[in-house]
Amino acid sequence: MSPKPSLLTCPYCETPLYEQKTDFRCARNHTFPLSQKGYVNLLGQTRAGDTAPMLTARRRLLDTSAYLPIAQALANNLIHYLPSTMATLPSRPTMSSGIIDAGCGEGHYLGHIQKILEEISLPIPLACYGFDSSKAAVKLAARRYHSATFFVSNIKQLWNITPATSCPILNVFAPRNFVESAHILQPRGMILTIIPTQKHLHELRNHYHLLQIEPQKEARVYKQANSQFNLSHTEVIEYQQGLTHQQVADVLTMTPNYWHQRATKKTFPNKEHTLPVTISVRSLVFQRQ
Ligand SMILES: C[S@@+](CC[C@H](N)C(=O)[O-])C[C@H]1O[C@@H](n2cnc3c(N)ncnc32)[C@H](O)[C@@H]1O
Ligand SMILES: [Zn+2]
Repeated sequence: MSPKPSLLTCPYCETPLYEQKTDFRCARNHTFPLSQKGYVNLLGQTRAGDTAPMLTARRRLLDTSAYLPIAQALANNLIHYLPSTMATLPSRPTMSSGIIDAGCGEGHYLGHIQKILEEISLPIPLACYGFDSSKAAVKLAARRYHSATFFVSNIKQLWNITPATSCPILNVFAPRNFVESAHILQPRGMILTIIPTQKHLHELRNHYHLLQIEPQKEARVYKQANSQFNLSHTEVIEYQQGLTHQQVADVLTMTPNYWHQRATKKTFPNKEHTLPVTISVRSLVFQRQ
């Protein structure tokens, strides 16, 4: 395979990285091997992130479609706002476009969106890149979603992505970095983000005395985005979902409330029944000024 331009830059010298058969490499020969498991480590060493048990629980829960309306809302917003983003691209196809899932976890949302995009015809193909600080996350993601590329990377630091590209960014239940997002996006380039509202899983939060959602979370996100992004869309996605004993255990395990899972076994009302739980998130679309 001849070297293929990628959206990435070298973490050491910031020149473009080219994708080769077995690695990503810059002109100065700094090399980032594509592991046998199908992911690339840009960090050198891994940083704390979600653990393997949390990720396994997250995947099992997401595979049940309990959070499907969230994936659908992301895909709808992407399709709606993509034309204005694509309008800023050069007319000739380039590699300077793709989708970046920052804090991708086990890859569910990027995988969903990639599938939807395959069904509609885009003027140019979008490469799909997932970034997560957890090696366990990118391993799991790479094992399932073969046509995306997953990177171990710290999204709170520099992003190693070519500036002024046109990459929709996904930020789902994950840390945001508006400074780096602004750096890499062209005007009107978008961030699709999902944050929990205070009602999200409130039955479980109350029943198991879990951490509450920070009341000022939404205001804090607006404030962080404010100087370089316009808010183009905001909506609450809220529904009641009957969760089985296994789903409740998985929801608890996949969140920072991991250590409460023992409580589930003790106090889940009746293993034969489902527990009605509120899923409530805010979906936001920001566009670069
Ligand atoms: C709550 S999970 C959400 C995962 C995925 N977006 C989803 O909704 O299924 C948050 C993810 O962000 C990752 N994460 C946390 N801090 C990070 C950082 N500084 N850099 C990259 N990823 C990070 C965690 O490892 C975890 O996979
Ligand atoms: Zn280099």
